[in-house]
Amino acid sequence: MAKNKTVYVCSECGYETSKWNGRCPDCGQWNTFEETVPLGSSQRSSGSVSSARDVSDNIFEINDIDATDTETRWSTGSGELDRVLGGGVVKGSLILLGGEPGIGKSTLLLQICQALGDDHTILYVSGEESLRQIKLRARRLGVDSGNLYLLSETDCEAVCKAVAKEKPEIVIIDSIQTMNISGVSSASGSVTQVRECSNMLMKTAKSLEIPMLIVGHVNKDGAIAGPKVMEHIVDCVLYFEGEKNMPYRILRGIKNRFGSTNEIGVFEMTGKGLREVANPSEMLLTGRPQDASGCCVACMIEGSRPLLTEVQALVTKSSFNVPRRTASGFDYNRMAILIAVLEKRMGYYFGGLDVYMSIVGGLEIDEPAADLAVALALYSGLIDKVVPADTLCFGEVGLAGELRGVQRAEQRVLEAKRLGFGRVVLPAATLSRMDRSGLEGVKLIGASTIGEAFKAVMG
Ligand code: TYD
Ligand code: MG
Repeated sequence: MAKNKTVYVCSECGYETSKWNGRCPDCGQWNTFEETVPLGSSQRSSGSVSSARDVSDNIFEINDIDATDTETRWSTGSGELDRVLGGGVVKGSLILLGGEPGIGKSTLLLQICQALGDDHTILYVSGEESLRQIKLRARRLGVDSGNLYLLSETDCEAVCKAVAKEKPEIVIIDSIQTMNISGVSSASGSVTQVRECSNMLMKTAKSLEIPMLIVGHVNKDGAIAGPKVMEHIVDCVLYFEGEKNMPYRILRGIKNRFGSTNEIGVFEMTGKGLREVANPSEMLLTGRPQDASGCCVACMIEGSRPLLTEVQALVTKSSFNVPRRTASGFDYNRMAILIAVLEKRMGYYFGGLDVYMSIVGGLEIDEPAADLAVALALYSGLIDKVVPADTLCFGEVGLAGELRGVQRAEQRVLEAKRLGFGRVVLPAATLSRMDRSGLEGVKLIGASTIGEAFKAVMG
């Protein structure tokens, strides 16, 4: 007889174990294990196959499967969102939209209802706001589609039942953390609830072929709460990010079963909701000095995402016996090594000079691929010559002054291209084994030493 086994689930990452732990062995967080009983575990068989259904008739050869009606895509009316989705919402797909509270997830989803509502019926389920609140927001955003229906509800089973009965063409769930299933003992927003609700919504979406857009909040570390449990369930994970006090928002695809994840969408938060930013480099160039020396743009990979960052270095005559050197957002010792490489290998001396280095935007960079941009910023600051604004560089700098290859160069160059950069300087070793398809329009310059890179950039 199978026992109703208790499992302990980490509320941060979804790691499961049969014994309680003080610290999660997977994500390293303390005191995050919750006791849960998995749904239906009591009915699970003990592993015997004789009692299982016979599904051998359901096995087909791949060429016999009828797929003449290719995936149907519906445009959301937002070019940026469509691009990130790979061309629009695919029928029957499950899309997770993650982001910090207040970043604009509800705003974006409500806004796309206007264009989607022209041809489709939409059910917007909110567990966070009352109908009146949504109506007020919709009025401000100019959303008044007659095909938009609102429901304020947190009971996931009731929502799925209503969806099955009313059969709207698109469903929006805001947010998964407010949904709950009464049969699951843990609180709303816990990993178990999130997983079970996602599963329930997925079954409804797939069986009725209704696309669902689901809002998911991120936890303090920036991960979508219960990411591991949700990411494999949904077809598409989009992440909305940006500084709350800056008007710009970037929408990134982290996972997409129906398209590429290299695309990003850029929006600006205005008094009338989100506006698409047609030329995203506009965002990077906001406030970026055009003709100041000591500035260089690099492309980092943050987690699985490429991110463009500006490195700034200020090199001035010191009024102290021991020059001041500071680095914010970058490892101080790494900066000291790069200065030493510039002195020893290139003959550029920083003795008697203060060096202040900073990564713009409050970012912390620990990837070696930033080395070249840091070295270039230092060099540019020293000789007081500007790095051309359309140039971006990345590469690891070795102690002999050589440029070493870095990973995922294609993704970095694609991001540079997306953001309007025309020239990328990168390690020659990386360039020689790169797949250049899709990277047309960007001039790629390979350099094997920092000397070559400096010459290519500054002439
Ligand atoms: P919201 O979509 O509610 O965020 P989320 O659902 O991700 O938690 O966004 C709310 C923020 O956006 C709020 O701080 C106010 C701002 N905002 C505007 O600046 N203009 C607008 O037209 C709207 C609707 C919101
Ligand atoms: Mg919201």
